[in-house]
Amino acid sequence: MKKLFIVGNWKSNKTVTEALAWLEKFKSLNPSYTSEEKEVIICPPFTLLSDMKKYIDENNLPIKLGVQNVSPFAEGAYTGEVSAREAKDFVTHALVGHSERRKYFNETDKDVLAKIKLLLENNITPVLCISDIKQLEYYLKEDDILVNNADKIIFVYEPPSAISGGGTFHAANTSDINTNSAEIEKMIGKAIITLYGGSVNPENAAEIFGLEHIHGGLPGQASLDAEKLMQIITSYNG
Ligand code: PGA
Repeated sequence: MKKLFIVGNWKSNKTVTEALAWLEKFKSLNPSYTSEEKEVIICPPFTLLSDMKKYIDENNLPIKLGVQNVSPFAEGAYTGEVSAREAKDFVTHALVGHSERRKYFNETDKDVLAKIKLLLENNITPVLCISDIKQLEYYLKEDDILVNNADKIIFVYEPPSAISGGGTFHAANTSDINTNSAEIEKMIGKAIITLYGGSVNPENAAEIFGLEHIHGGLPGQASLDAEKLMQIITSYNG
């Protein structure tokens, strides 16, 4: 049976009140999967981590938390940044290299490698978003950190053109998803966990998660709705 990994990327959305209402709703849907079968990780804005962690712990919900970003530097005089060491109080996972961070915040390949290094040092699992194979070629040429730590990283194939926009979902086609994920694994040269991101929703999740080289998904927009996320989680059962 294939273990399913679902990483919900909330992006820049939700206040504390809204996040707690989401958790209430999620709890009311009686999540019945075990963390051995399915790993569900929510990546909210930093401002929600403390309240969400408290609620999840108190209610024993099968949800882990991740951050959407960390500083490329260790702690210190870096105004506005949150370091991996600080994030560790709240999270087990962290998104790295998301195309929106590259597009709007000028994040570079070099930053991505620095962040991965700091995350691994702090035992946080990097969830590495790869927009295209060329990016991965650069990482592999620069550093052996990905290959040496392949079992501690979650890889995500996420073509920017497939990310939902304006309420519309338009996922990449399934054969491209499977081929590119297989290519990522081939380039790493070891068995890895590979997810797909870009317009994952309750209608397409089962088909995508059933692909040979895919172990789950990174829904953004759909994860903002607890019911939709639960439908995604329960759409596929190995
Ligand atoms: P989307 O976002 O599911 O809304 O396309 C995915 C992502 O960008 O992480």
